[in-house]
Amino acid sequence: MCGIIGFVGADGTRALDVLLTGLSGLEYRGYDSAGIAVADDEIQVLKRQGEVSSLEEALEEQPLGTEALGIGHTRWSTHGPPSDRNAHPHTDTDSRVAVVHNGIIQNYQSLRTELTEGGVTFESETDTEVVPHLIARELDDGLDHETAFRAAIDRLEGSYAIAAVFKGSDTVYAARHESPLVLGIGDDGHYLASDVPAFIEYTDRVIYLEDGEFARLSADQIEITDEHGESVEYTVTEIEWDAEDAGKSGYDHYMLKEINEQPAAIRECLRGRLNELTGRVELEELEEISFDGPVTFVACGTSYHAARFGVTLLNRWGVDARAMLASEFTGDSVPLTQDSLVIGVTQSGETADTMRALREANREGATTLAVTNVVGSSAARVCDHVMYIRAGPEIGVAATKTFASQQAALTMVAAVLADHRSRELIQSLREVANGIQQVLDDTTARSIAEVYRDARAYFFIGRQLHYPVALEGALKLKEISYKHAEGFAAGELKHGPLALVGPDTPVFALVTGDGKQAEKTIGNVKEVEARGVPVVAITDGLSDIERYADYVLEVPALEEVGSAIVANVQLQLVSYWIANELGRSIDKPRHLAKSVTVE
Ligand code: M6R
Repeated sequence: MCGIIGFVGADGTRALDVLLTGLSGLEYRGYDSAGIAVADDEIQVLKRQGEVSSLEEALEEQPLGTEALGIGHTRWSTHGPPSDRNAHPHTDTDSRVAVVHNGIIQNYQSLRTELTEGGVTFESETDTEVVPHLIARELDDGLDHETAFRAAIDRLEGSYAIAAVFKGSDTVYAARHESPLVLGIGDDGHYLASDVPAFIEYTDRVIYLEDGEFARLSADQIEITDEHGESVEYTVTEIEWDAEDAGKSGYDHYMLKEINEQPAAIRECLRGRLNELTGRVELEELEEISFDGPVTFVACGTSYHAARFGVTLLNRWGVDARAMLASEFTGDSVPLTQDSLVIGVTQSGETADTMRALREANREGATTLAVTNVVGSSAARVCDHVMYIRAGPEIGVAATKTFASQQAALTMVAAVLADHRSRELIQSLREVANGIQQVLDDTTARSIAEVYRDARAYFFIGRQLHYPVALEGALKLKEISYKHAEGFAAGELKHGPLALVGPDTPVFALVTGDGKQAEKTIGNVKEVEARGVPVVAITDGLSDIERYADYVLEVPALEEVGSAIVANVQLQLVSYWIANELGRSIDKPRHLAKSVTVE
């Protein structure tokens, strides 16, 4: 949510290129406006409502006169609507300092009042603008750049990753508290950004800033200090993926690329973690975990659906577990003790709701585990234990490959926590990658999207492990097509939602296997079909669901866990092709952002 970038180079000629490349790499975090500030003897700012391309066009008409060093920002609005004025960077009245910010300054209203009473006139409606004015006031009092920056940061409450440049200075200053910030060490300069894709083209050597730390970047040095100004020793991490992994590789959209990357992502997620001989899952990340009480998952959106998947398996294998929407989790919403285990499921590892819940769980003394995709993310650092899902960078706002990898990862976590050993399960997980490839090679989802692109609403139903998949299918469709879609436990349809169905509301029914659960869902499908409602069955052909379906999306016959992972891919493809038919902004759907760092 909002992306920030900063750069200071050795030869003073590359700042614009680096900032614009960085902003394009960060656009998934917010895309309603973008801006940059470059600095030498003057600070020059250019910002535009709209995507980074609008800023690039403006730059062609109005080139900036220096390439020395600078900062940039791509915005997801929280305070004030998208506009040129509300876009970052923000400056003080005399343009001595320019600031970009990701996060929320909770006490901005009182700071704004204080500054206004001191004679400051605000240009924007943002919370961020208080920061350059606070810095300016410290400069007026005679403080140097760094001390003024630190003093201003000291006044802030809330979450922030902030970067600032000063007139007449060759240094970029930054600070972080509960919003991500990573520094890049290049051969020819230093970088900072909300996330690695912003500068992966230039360097893969990074430093993750911790909460409460400050950074000072010049062309030849990075210095990190703690809140007391003491130097901090830092660790340099080497990123294991490259610019190509973060690119579109010829696909029209990141989402389609990422859907197609799922076989590889699943193989990577499972690598070295399954033992065919013993039927055991082996996760060294969980070896030290001990708990004696219910397992509580906290997560949002797609990750919450994955958490429900994990809960279903844990319950089935005899472990008491529940999934909570992280935004609904409070210290007293579930009883936690020192024996409790709280698992945060979060692709980005930065989601504010999930982070708050995990911090609260830590405070209660519970053991915490992060299941995340992003190495070094806040969740990874805040939790006692971390398991990486290894899906690789996901840029499309709609989570796709990370959901499949979360399903696989949480299956493994559940098996370890429940000490569930099963060669069939291991075998099924092993078959998932090829199963997904089979689905990717099938073009039926695209044809079905053409048939139903104009439907009034879409419903998704499934039972047991297919229930979270139904929820996820609906979320994906509504997110990128802007059409009304809902997911239901198949048996619930008749308890209310059935009133909504009609000839213009296709129902997508997940039915695999030929057991009792499949039989019951077929019963629910018959109730729908009897009312003249079109049915699309996602099936492995083992039951007779095809008799009641208008169309069939085939999946290979696998054991239940594998089926549920693979079936979801058909739904991803339906969503993608419907959104594509409707000409939607698939990778950057309206009003959304990839990493939601506000509560
Ligand atoms: O990074 P997280 O997994 O914590 O993100 C949680 C949700 O914001 C996320 O899954 C969201 O629902 C997806 N964009 C849906 O595709």
